[in-house]
Amino acid sequence: MKRFFGQTAIVTGGAQGIGFAICKKLVSEGAKIWIFDRVEGLAQEAISKLEEQGFLASFCKVDVSDEDSVRSGFSHIADAGETCSIVVNSAGVVGPNGIKTEAVSLEDFEQTCRVNLTGSFLMLKYGLKAMLPQKYGRILLIASIAGKEGNAGMCSYSASKAGVIGLVKAAGKEYAEDGITINAVAPATINTRMVAGMAPAQVKYMTDKIPMKRCGTLEEISNLAAWIVSPEASFNTGFTFDMTGGRAVF
Ligand SMILES: NC(=O)c1ccc[n+]([C@@H]2O[C@H](COP(=O)([O-])OP(=O)(O)OC[C@H]3O[C@@H](n4cnc5c(N)ncnc54)[C@H](O)[C@@H]3O)[C@@H](O)[C@H]2O)c1
Repeated sequence: MKRFFGQTAIVTGGAQGIGFAICKKLVSEGAKIWIFDRVEGLAQEAISKLEEQGFLASFCKVDVSDEDSVRSGFSHIADAGETCSIVVNSAGVVGPNGIKTEAVSLEDFEQTCRVNLTGSFLMLKYGLKAMLPQKYGRILLIASIAGKEGNAGMCSYSASKAGVIGLVKAAGKEYAEDGITINAVAPATINTRMVAGMAPAQVKYMTDKIPMKRCGTLEEISNLAAWIVSPEASFNTGFTFDMTGGRAVF
């Protein structure tokens, strides 16, 4: 089944982890992929892995927290004669973790929000500008269960992801009649390089909270993400989907 044949998808943070898993899923179902990431070497490795499996993908160096960078990424795609109909924002940073709020520096707090929340806003804003003329689009922002429930020891991350959920709720309503859906996914722990870099006690705290007593897999999240950005998901917008093995909260 080629659900995405003829469609162009931008996946930020697509060089590794959840973003790369989503790239693999979308490209395997016919999408043309653009990886937006700030780390060129990792992105080129990711593209080589896709090529080994017979798939094509392109790279554009973009820092999602920088408006000029995001704007020029979208212009680059338009200059290549393509129109994106799918945006997945998976770029993110964990920021301070394993420490309580009074020990968090303003600089670290703001930097975490700048990537996770401002980056989501910018990808949403420029994704909408590209999609509105065609009256079709699917925008998916990767939030986190931390944004719904709050993870102790991760105030900056939790606040930034709560902001992403608010962004989706507001914008989903604004564009509900324009053929563009705007949703988020809130995963619990999925073993990626991000999680490998966290304080072990913080990871234990997060995984102990999962009722299924295991982490989510890249396959599970990419399957859900692909459905959310597919034409089939036509009556779902402004929503944050659960991906938590039972840790779900509204
Ligand atoms: N892994 C988990 O357990 C988990 C759980 C909940 C939510 N998430 C969210 O899922 C998303 C992906 O996480 P992951 O675990 O795959 O992380 P990861 O660290 O494996 O990958 C993140 C990618 O984002 C890129 N990136 C970071 N800052 C960027 C920026 N400013 N501009 C462009 N690219 C940037 C990195 O280079 C990297 O390729 C993140 O938003 C994360 O917060 C992850």
